[in-house]
Amino acid sequence: MTVFRIKSIEQSIRDTEAPEHRLRKDLSALDLTVFGIGVIIGTGIFVLTGRVARDLAGPAVALSFVVAGIVCALAALCYAEFASTVPVAGSAYTFAFATLGEFPAWIIGWDLTLELMLAAAVVAVGWSGYLTSLLSSMGITLPAAIAGEGATFNLPAALVVLVLTAVLVAGIKLSSRLNLIIVTIKLAVVLLVIVAGLFFVKAANYSPFIPPAKSTPAVGGLAAPLIQVLFGISPVAFGMLGVFSAAAIVFFAYIGFDVVATAAEETRNPRRDLPIGIIASLAICTLLYVAVSLVVVGMQPYSRLSESAPLADAFKAVGQTWAATLISIGALAGLTTVVMILMMGQSRVMFAMSRDHLLPAVLAKVHPKFGTPYRITILVGVIVAILAGLVPLSTIAELVNIGTLFAFVIVSIAVVILRRTRPDLPRSFRTPLVPLVPILSVLACLYLMLNLPVETWLRFVIWMIIGVVVYVTYSYRHSRLSRHSTGAP
Ligand code: ALA
Repeated sequence: MTVFRIKSIEQSIRDTEAPEHRLRKDLSALDLTVFGIGVIIGTGIFVLTGRVARDLAGPAVALSFVVAGIVCALAALCYAEFASTVPVAGSAYTFAFATLGEFPAWIIGWDLTLELMLAAAVVAVGWSGYLTSLLSSMGITLPAAIAGEGATFNLPAALVVLVLTAVLVAGIKLSSRLNLIIVTIKLAVVLLVIVAGLFFVKAANYSPFIPPAKSTPAVGGLAAPLIQVLFGISPVAFGMLGVFSAAAIVFFAYIGFDVVATAAEETRNPRRDLPIGIIASLAICTLLYVAVSLVVVGMQPYSRLSESAPLADAFKAVGQTWAATLISIGALAGLTTVVMILMMGQSRVMFAMSRDHLLPAVLAKVHPKFGTPYRITILVGVIVAILAGLVPLSTIAELVNIGTLFAFVIVSIAVVILRRTRPDLPRSFRTPLVPLVPILSVLACLYLMLNLPVETWLRFVIWMIIGVVVYVTYSYRHSRLSRHSTGAP
């Protein structure tokens, strides 16, 4: 069937070598690791930790981070093999095009849009939460209608997105140096939380470590995790079930190691360095997350953690305003790079899709002076700004997770398929124990997906149906592969 027409790996690699598409190859394994940490550490740890501990897991949120970390590690092993075999921007979209065919690739591209664009919006909302907390510690209160979770329109969140869009258009590419500075600040803040926080930990706050399961409004109605509804369990938070629902949400904190793969074309030795960058950044973040979450729930009774800036507010609660201020400043700086790199990743994926004409090719036009895909960047920026202004953080974080987990499932399956269809390709990194690890990865991702709320599933299915309609009515006919039926665009 033509919807499963494949774009060969050789063709994908040739496309990147065309002089007009050639990117400068500058990044090393260390740069990639720093890049990874720059996009991974963000709203997940700085914001979601509080809400999730309060509503779903209690102090056991640290266990939820372990669970989500294991799921990501399995997927990361699969991403690493792909990235070492197909070092082409576009990440999962390109991988899918090379193995499963055009339609699955489209589905993944459409799905990545959900991941990257919405994630950028979520992180912008988290940024605004820390801004509000910082201003309030300086005695300035923003009107509730324009800032914070309950705002009618979250103005700071939308503004920061627009400013970053302008930066992206102007092509002021975050040099690895600037990124390094911001990552250093971010790591310093995280370490400050761990080290300074330890002094305020009270053993009493850890008991019970896994609070007993109970029904709460947080898991009522459509907000109930799908798995509990499917198995006819009356929905509960806390307990072991709560730990898993919480894992499905804090999964958000790990998103970004997959974005490392989009820097493939800018890496000096991608076959060796991409796997290192992906796995190292994930490993470092996992350790930090478990430590931070353990400390924060030890500082305050979990039921009192704040919704919008839990790390900073935990220090306020123990009277350490100076630390709270430092953390807020660090979080603000750190979250900007996350928003920016996510939007950059999004424009890369859309760029790859328009290069293949699955989206209008005019979108892929590069700015004559700035040399950036400015049309896509502006389009992405405006949409993200509107979303960040209007949609509450928690609703979208869950949608981002389901989209990302779905991409992980496809990539894990694709690794096995590519081993069968193209055993000849050089693979400098091989996923261990194929097919066991990919199968475990698929099962683990599906399990986390099942732990997401029913309403998230509904929104996800609706988004995917829209994607199928766009493919059938537009992309299928415009695809470069359809006009060159030999399969060579
Ligand atoms: N992992 C990134 C964050 O937590 C997206 O903000």
